[in-house]
Amino acid sequence: MSAPDDPRVVAAAAVLRARGVEGPFALALVAGTGLGGLAEAIEAPRIVPYGEIPHFPAAGVSGHAGRLVAGHLAGRPVLLFQGRAHAYEHGDAAAMRVPLGVVRALGAPPLLLTNAAGSMLPAAGPGSLALITDHINLSGLNPLIGEPSDARFVPMRDAYDPALRTALAAAAGRSGVVLHEGVYAWFSGPSFETPAEVRMAHRLGADLVGMSTAPEVILARFLGLRVAALSLVTNHAEGFSDGTPSHGETQRVAALAAQDVARLLAALLADPGFAPSP
Ligand code: HPA
Repeated sequence: MSAPDDPRVVAAAAVLRARGVEGPFALALVAGTGLGGLAEAIEAPRIVPYGEIPHFPAAGVSGHAGRLVAGHLAGRPVLLFQGRAHAYEHGDAAAMRVPLGVVRALGAPPLLLTNAAGSMLPAAGPGSLALITDHINLSGLNPLIGEPSDARFVPMRDAYDPALRTALAAAAGRSGVVLHEGVYAWFSGPSFETPAEVRMAHRLGADLVGMSTAPEVILARFLGLRVAALSLVTNHAEGFSDGTPSHGETQRVAALAAQDVARLLAALLADPGFAPSP
């Protein structure tokens, strides 16, 4: 069963079409902390601030611009969400529901989410990239709480699309970018995790910790979008090194790793075999 049409999404998509933002797109991207600079690589950009799109959230975190940018990357049309709304801002795990609904309304291209994360993988230190293979929801939240339709019972097997993951791993190989892999544990934040929480997440099978992405993957699957997610490791998770995470460090390190993400994306999009969803 697929998600019903949402009048808020219809209104938002109508405004975007009137501003010249129209599919088909080869890829939709959500730029996490430090990755907003990807927008500068987009050619012939059409930029619409979230504040000018009905029902869009404000991206209220420093380092998140809050703009939709449509244009070309490596010669292919892409839709970039420069900044996201997080559940920890207002307690709304469905804060990205309208933006992701717009992805479906504008042709349902594959969706690539990016985030900053703490790592529990010894080989993946600050500055590394990791492909998320699955998640563990430790937040107690879910973006589909309150959704009345039976589409809310979303299966989560292979939620992180295996074919997209294979394409990303191949693109990493072609572009010389080392891509680790791991399970992401979603904590609500905004406080960082305690060392005991990180030890618990590790014992449960997590490799990465962060405060975003998992609710967007749930929403994407609800909407029938193919989705993959990439973590920029900005720090060792609390207790996994002598240092302690901070928002400033997260922004600085993510901005450095952004160049690797740009190379990886260019290699992905340059592959003629990488086709948008039907
Ligand atoms: N924990 C949660 N979120 C994060 C971290 C972390 O260690 N680093 C960057 N985002």
